[in-house]
Amino acid sequence: SFEVELASSGDVYTVPPDRSVFEVLDEAGIFIPTSCEQGVCGTCLTKVLEGEPEHRDMFMDDDEHATNDQFTPCCSRSKSKRLVLDL
Ligand code: FES
Repeated sequence: SFEVELASSGDVYTVPPDRSVFEVLDEAGIFIPTSCEQGVCGTCLTKVLEGEPEHRDMFMDDDEHATNDQFTPCCSRSKSKRLVLDL
């Protein structure tokens, strides 16, 4: 599991292995627009301020993935213990 921190509130949520970032935040009342939920459409793209995402989308190219300044919370995860999101 890993944690996501919301930059605006400082609130921290734990994302277990069997749940997506989108699901965990949705349950907490944090709305992220989604469509495909499979990493294809880019609708859920969210800015990452700190930490290194583990990209699982097919929306961004390799260069964009390497920049690590945004990720797709519907399917992507984290290589670092915590991601700070611009939410
Ligand atoms: Fe389509 Fe996340 S909802 S990439």
